[in-house]
Amino acid sequence: MSDELERTRQFLHQHHGGNGERAAERTLSTHERNHDADFQSFWETHTPRGDNLHIVDLGCGPALFLKQQAREHPGFRLTGIEIAPYMLARIDDKPDNLEIRIADLNAPGKAVFPPASIDACLANMLIHELFQPVMLFQALYHWIKPGGVLILTDTVRQPLKSFLNHRFPDTDFSRDPLDAPSMNDCFRDYFEHNRYTAKDIAELLELCGFDLIEQQNLRDGRATRIAARRP
Ligand SMILES: C[S@@+](CC[C@H](N)C(=O)[O-])C[C@H]1O[C@@H](n2cnc3c(N)ncnc32)[C@H](O)[C@@H]1O
Repeated sequence: MSDELERTRQFLHQHHGGNGERAAERTLSTHERNHDADFQSFWETHTPRGDNLHIVDLGCGPALFLKQQAREHPGFRLTGIEIAPYMLARIDDKPDNLEIRIADLNAPGKAVFPPASIDACLANMLIHELFQPVMLFQALYHWIKPGGVLILTDTVRQPLKSFLNHRFPDTDFSRDPLDAPSMNDCFRDYFEHNRYTAKDIAELLELCGFDLIEQQNLRDGRATRIAARRP
């Protein structure tokens, strides 16, 4: 295993709260919320129609989205990219038309997929976990077919006060005793989940050559959903 891949795995283990099994459980239990009816309708509206599409899920976790696609579209070719061993361990009963690949999406290199080979690509809650997203956006421009689409959902910057109140709903910061390790964790977590504004992500995609088709504010502005087309 390369040093880079190992470094990313160590970062993610810490980002996922130091407990991979619990993080995988949480990904399974939040699947419905992250892929609800609004998401489905956004996906259907913006992704191409066809029987033999190549669909990719970046940071696919336990691959529930791809398994659903496999059930509904037996003719699709489906590829999931994932790096965390505890997420990969949860991918069981893999349908024949689903392939899972291990790769580091921080600097994936253009060779992960042939040029212009992807019809639609999903990046659901991945971007904030990358050290930087521009190398992935550049590679996607190369991999996605002209007219193909990237659907991206992620958390975006929110006021620190609302993050603290959400994390410590019963704490009176003026008088209650505070625990240093949980406060340190909370501030590290804040910066890892609040790297970008919704506008930053949209502009980075445009900078890397994509056309913005639609952008929605989610969860009172704490998350964004974007459809971007490879011209
Ligand atoms: C918050 S989870 C979301 C999982 C899934 N997309 C979903 O919406 O249920 C983010 C996923 O991206 C994966 N990930 C993060 N950084 C990655 C990287 N550099 N390369 C590949 N996968 C990565 C994580 O291991 C994790 O499974």
